[in-house]
Amino acid sequence: MLRLCWLMLPAIAAKLCSNSSIPCVQLPHGVQMPMVALGSWRGSYKDCADNNYSCAQEHARQAVQSWLQSVGGTHVDTANDYRTQVQVGEALKASGLAREEAFVTTKCPGAIGFNATLQCIEDNIQMLGFYSEEKPYIDLVLVHFPFAIKPECNGVTGGSECEAPYYDPGSEVHRETWAAMEFALRMGRVRAVGLMEISDFAEKPAVNQVEWHPYHHDDQLKAFCDAHGIAVEAWSPLSGQNASALSDPTVKEVAAKYNVSTAQVVLRWSLQQNVSVVVGTEKVDHMKTDLELFSFQLTASEMQSISKLRSLSGQIFV
Ligand SMILES: NC(=O)c1ccc[n+]([C@@H]2O[C@H](COP(=O)([O-])OP(=O)(O)OC[C@H]3O[C@@H](n4cnc5c(N)ncnc54)[C@H](OP(=O)(O)O)[C@@H]3O)[C@@H](O)[C@H]2O)c1
Ligand SMILES: *[C@@H]1O[C@H](CO)[C@@H](O)[C@H](O)[C@H]1NC(C)=O
Ligand SMILES: *[C@@H]1O[C@H](CO)[C@@H](O)[C@H](O)[C@H]1NC(C)=O
Ligand SMILES: *[C@@H]1O[C@H](CO)[C@@H](O)[C@H](O)[C@H]1NC(C)=O
Ligand SMILES: *[C@@H]1O[C@H](CO)[C@@H](O)[C@H](O)[C@H]1NC(C)=O
Ligand SMILES: *[C@@H]1O[C@H](CO)[C@@H](O)[C@H](O)[C@H]1NC(C)=O
Repeated sequence: MLRLCWLMLPAIAAKLCSNSSIPCVQLPHGVQMPMVALGSWRGSYKDCADNNYSCAQEHARQAVQSWLQSVGGTHVDTANDYRTQVQVGEALKASGLAREEAFVTTKCPGAIGFNATLQCIEDNIQMLGFYSEEKPYIDLVLVHFPFAIKPECNGVTGGSECEAPYYDPGSEVHRETWAAMEFALRMGRVRAVGLMEISDFAEKPAVNQVEWHPYHHDDQLKAFCDAHGIAVEAWSPLSGQNASALSDPTVKEVAAKYNVSTAQVVLRWSLQQNVSVVVGTEKVDHMKTDLELFSFQLTASEMQSISKLRSLSGQIFV
């Protein structure tokens, strides 16, 4: 099966990045990823209760369409776990952008083996509506986490049997999962592959998406990724749901100096370290300013004082 021919990846990234003011990072195989993305996770929508997926879907449809159509965003982040792929795909169609004018990231749920990973990628292409394209592909697929969820606990919260829904299926399944990612890449179904968390089973992910904001940043991991040419991308770049970093006195002081919002300072702090960001918001005015990050520059000492706000007391991933 692995002897299938290596399809050339289409040279379409240049168009995506040259038509936009948002800078891109270079990934392997000539793929370029816009450094500011909009997330579509339920937790990014304050009005949606836990596990109310229909609520997340309605909000994601609105937010993603605004992002692509009126705000000028180009990169959208979704996942099996979010269940917003259909709405992301429909919003992209409704926005009027051509497929190659947008960059779509999705995620398959963990270490699920070869066949399940390939099936997951196909299902995502279908949910995103890309089978209507001449050449269906997803720009970036991530292994969402380096473990598996007990099948009976998928989509279930609570209940004693699902209190610890995660397990490690073993290194063979990890390897098969990654082999499927590489296979999909060779088939041209996917243009880049990566992980949310680095692990020793991965050959060479293009992107490592991790929690990253002033209160939580693993600088050793970043150094490791830099040394291996792996792009780092931040989830919860504004410090998540409560966005508490946005009222931090240090951040406020810097924001006042440049006459920008605290959100802009915090996002700029990531970008200036070459860390891409996936922001969560459904407010168009927030989306707009979350993209206005290129008219000011933080000094080295401002970068340092924001970095020092770190308190790595929480979990590395949720
Ligand atoms: N896979 C994972 O485990 C995982 C976990 C977390 C996140 N993610 C990805 O990362 C995305 C973003 O994460 P997140 O929503 O947790 O964190 P976030 O982007 O750090 O924070 C979102 C919060 O920031 C606020 N915000 C955004 N722009 C703002 C602005 N300009 N001014 C003031 N407040 C602003 C939003 O409120 P408003 O609604 O008021 O704008 C929202 O409450 C998710 O959608 C998802 O794609 C993945
Ligand atoms: C889920 O959210 C929608 C709003 O989008 C609301 O109408 C519905 O009642 C909610 N469902 C539950 C079970 O809370
Ligand atoms: C994966 O699918 C192939 C057929 O494509 C099958 O031969 C193989 O047994 C499957 N593997 C598992 C672990 O189910
Ligand atoms: C930023 O990261 C990308 C992806 O790893 C890399 O190609 C690029 O050289 C880095 N840029 C800088 C300025 O470090
Ligand atoms: C956000 O704030 C509320 C109210 O203060 C708190 O209950 C909740 O735990 C906080 N959430 C996070 C993710 O910190
Ligand atoms: C600060 O920014 C606001 C809007 O972003 C603008 O209206 C105001 O004129 C700016 N003030 C200065 C001193 O540049």
